[in-house]
Amino acid sequence: MSHSPRKVLIGVAWPYANGLQHIGHIAGAYLPPDVFARFQRMKGNDVLMVSGSDTHGTPVTIKADEEGVTPADVIDRYHPTFIESYRKLGLTFDLFTHTDTENHWKVTQDFFACHREKGYIYTDTQQQMFDPQVQRFLPDRYVEGECPKCGSAEARGDQCDSCGAIYDATELKNPRSKISGSTDLEVRETEHFFLDLGKVNEPLLEWVGTGKDHWRTNVRNFTKAQLAERKLRGRPITRDISWGVEIPEPGYESKRIYVWYDAVIGYLSASKEWASLSGDPDAWKTWWTEGESDGSRSYYFIGKDNIPFHTIIWPGMLWAYGGLNLPYDVPGNEYLNMKGRKFSKSRGNIIGILDVLERYQPDAWRYALTAAAPEGNDVDFAWEDFVDRVNGELVANWGNLANRVLSFAFKRFDGKVPVPGELQEVDATLLAETKAGFESVGALLEAVKLRAAAGELLRISSLVNNYITQTAPFTVIKTDTARAGTIVWTALQCIEWLKTMWSPVLPHSCQLLHEYLGHDTALFGRQYTETVRDVRGEHLVLRYDHSEAAGVWGPAHLSGGQTLRQPAPLFTMLDAKEVVARETGEET
Ligand code: MF3
Ligand code: ZN
Repeated sequence: MSHSPRKVLIGVAWPYANGLQHIGHIAGAYLPPDVFARFQRMKGNDVLMVSGSDTHGTPVTIKADEEGVTPADVIDRYHPTFIESYRKLGLTFDLFTHTDTENHWKVTQDFFACHREKGYIYTDTQQQMFDPQVQRFLPDRYVEGECPKCGSAEARGDQCDSCGAIYDATELKNPRSKISGSTDLEVRETEHFFLDLGKVNEPLLEWVGTGKDHWRTNVRNFTKAQLAERKLRGRPITRDISWGVEIPEPGYESKRIYVWYDAVIGYLSASKEWASLSGDPDAWKTWWTEGESDGSRSYYFIGKDNIPFHTIIWPGMLWAYGGLNLPYDVPGNEYLNMKGRKFSKSRGNIIGILDVLERYQPDAWRYALTAAAPEGNDVDFAWEDFVDRVNGELVANWGNLANRVLSFAFKRFDGKVPVPGELQEVDATLLAETKAGFESVGALLEAVKLRAAAGELLRISSLVNNYITQTAPFTVIKTDTARAGTIVWTALQCIEWLKTMWSPVLPHSCQLLHEYLGHDTALFGRQYTETVRDVRGEHLVLRYDHSEAAGVWGPAHLSGGQTLRQPAPLFTMLDAKEVVARETGEET
């Protein structure tokens, strides 16, 4: 039975180019899509995974103001750091670009013009906070105050970090200006463009009402409840600011398109940029215009603060534009917290991903952040737990198994996979149970239950460990070389399969293992960077060449007699005391 490959679009939240990324970002929105993408490609599906730096809006201008540099300087500083961390961690973006590009401006302006022409965008005046001291309007993050929904004292003008509510800055209690610190603010009138979300409330309600059983409960319930209230209304999508995509209409030179309107369009513009770079400018279309019934699906990987933008606003924008696929799934994650506090670039208390990739293996992070993924609930990060996961699970359960069996085979069977004799029941049972992982782990990965997939992988690896304990090949070899050979072949065959199953989570170490097992191919493709030039300047992009990738999701046979390579331990054991002292300055 064969079926044609699916087109799987994987959109990844666009990180603001205003600071370094920390492990909370990675666990929430960046690592999960890569595990999923690698799995999908191994299944033979056509994956397009795109994202880029979110370069516009007040998150970037405030940072520039604070440092007395230009927004472009800020972007040039942080955008390459994202690319470097994704490269080191092995995140296989087909394209990671940014939004200050000619292509993105064009696609955004085209969207805007289409919405305008179809009557989804209108102009109106709006009440806006104004700081008389500096004679400036205070859009979004230029004003802070108390959240009108939850009362948090540190709410921003556009969104509350504590409860996730989005609202108008004029609704904030006790607002103060981020520019002057003044609380003596005025509300003034200003003209803006509004996206008429009221017009998409009904169609979206119908859309979420059908076939969304696979959505995560929190995402589905939140979205349905919001839409069922039937309170969507016009939202301003321009700002009094001089940084961002220009409004494609004369007379509005002093204003710019709101960052959230242009950022979500990035998924489409990046798909188009990828197509152009690949030499076929229309290649993006299959992912966007062939429907779900043709096997196209789009997934958006985000943190929970981004949920309304991806399950309501972006689908509404797509619906209004017409002819483009709405999200198939939005696997929004909760937060990975540091001792119960949300990680925040602006408020310190962070563990920078680039920094910790200097000291720990990428696969150690990939494992730890998958096994403790904040799926369905917030998770507290503690260094002790990280060490426990690496030593007690990754090394003890999986790494040692692979190393022990391979070393034994290499030493005692002449550097070759032993040729098995007749299988006993215990061998056949283990083989069947391990092989079944392609179904069970596969189903969990397919459903984006990555934490559960890691648990299932550990369970299967334990079966092989138990088998080794039970069959004791290290003892048997003293009296019965042939039987020992059969046991070792059985275990190696299971390790071969587990290598495939672990590889979306642990691509680097599984590649090594693949080579120790005697293979010469590459399981995955190759990441590379490139500098692209256009009228807005140059931008660095991260890309992925999948053409040579040999990894296939399925049970490959391991031939007796195949030449092995001298193995080495896949992972480094950590010392809990040392790690905690180094990373936190605390004694344990
Ligand atoms: N820059 C936003 C954030 O960090 C995320 C934007 S996701 C996008 O919260 F889809 F809008 F690009
Ligand atoms: Zn709040």
